[in-house]
Amino acid sequence: MLKLLKYEFYNMFRNKWIVFYFLFFLILTASLFYFAKEPAKVVSTLLQIVILVVPLISLILGTIFMYDSRNFIELLLSQPIDRKKIYISKYLGTTISLSVGFILGVLIPYLYVLKNPDVKGEHILYFSLIISGAFMTFIFTAFAFFISTFFEDRVKGFGASILLWLYVTLIYDGIILFIIIYFREYPLEKPVLILSMLNPVDIARIFVILKLDMAALLGYTGTIFKQFFDTKLGTMTSLSVMVLWIVIPLITGLVKFSKKIFKQEVKMKKRIFVITMAISFSASGGITQEEIDSNPILKGKMLAKKCSWCHDINKNLVAPPFKVILERYKSVPENTLRKQFFEVIKNGSKGRWKEWMKENLKIKMGRLDSMYMPPQKEYYNDEEINLILDWLFSLKK
Ligand code: HEC
Repeated sequence: MLKLLKYEFYNMFRNKWIVFYFLFFLILTASLFYFAKEPAKVVSTLLQIVILVVPLISLILGTIFMYDSRNFIELLLSQPIDRKKIYISKYLGTTISLSVGFILGVLIPYLYVLKNPDVKGEHILYFSLIISGAFMTFIFTAFAFFISTFFEDRVKGFGASILLWLYVTLIYDGIILFIIIYFREYPLEKPVLILSMLNPVDIARIFVILKLDMAALLGYTGTIFKQFFDTKLGTMTSLSVMVLWIVIPLITGLVKFSKKIFKQEVKMKKRIFVITMAISFSASGGITQEEIDSNPILKGKMLAKKCSWCHDINKNLVAPPFKVILERYKSVPENTLRKQFFEVIKNGSKGRWKEWMKENLKIKMGRLDSMYMPPQKEYYNDEEINLILDWLFSLKK
């Protein structure tokens, strides 16, 4: 389990997304402090952004990671490892890395500003903002994992994630507004109180707002919350509701994952490719679709993203690095080798690297001798395999 977790962390920090996420909050918080020196003011503005961005990014990245690592998950499932452990380590790897990115991003500017003796610290308030952001990360990643376990089809999974986000951030507010206007004659406190608990984002917002002395920001649900509970009880209640919001989707996803029969991904590669391209545009270093289309090597490189769950170019992950593979076969003529690799990618490979893996792989998960490369023909057609091979052989030069 620890090894799995270590691997997940390693993978997460290899991911440029986390760095962007961290930088986003760092720059945002720093500029807010630049314009408004008071921490309380900064928190109130930051909160509005955090409750939009954190759920969105947790949902999208959670969904992407889960679908992208299908292949790797299938490899793990061929090992004598408990499925629950796979799911939990993946979950912890994702949530902890995202939270660390978020927390460092908002914390560093605050600590910096505190060095100025004129600034009055608002530790409890700031701390609540951080807690609330971390909770939302855990909640929405749990949802993302649940969704991607539930929907076999990646496009549907993304759709569901986006819908959920729209619900918690926009549609829900509309519903509350509608209720307030339509039923203003009736006592609304209790129904609205219950409704607020049905939205993790609202609860996370209330959790912070309760500590802010700005009545204007409380909003309708917040005001009722404050009337019902004092700050302390309100904090405890919102905290427990947030814990529930982590546990429910996490357990449901876990149960579903344990029972799931992994079918190979549905053939929607073309569409998936476009979507992931649109979303991971920054992750690929800002390359446009045209550039990729006009350059077969780049195309192959993009297609080979799935391989990177197991193979790195130079580093040892759970399979031999591409450079090592090329080195081993350097005396084989490229034509012959091309045929061999074509076959490998299409139908998988087992046993050729057994000794090498035994000696060189630090991450020894399960029985190494049962590690193999699963067939990739479900993911790529012949033309795409050839593009990958173009890229692979370009590494030789
Ligand atoms: C789930 C993990 C996994 C994925 C994904 C994966 N591989 Fe592999 N690959 C392996 C393992 C494990 C081996 C060693 C197999 C063996 O011992 O024969 C291997 C071996 C290879 C070899 C060497 C085969 C030989 O003839 O010696 C090549 C080439 C290769 N992989 C290319 C790829 C490419 C290209 C992709 C992406 C399209 C890919 N792999 C995706 C795990 C993976």
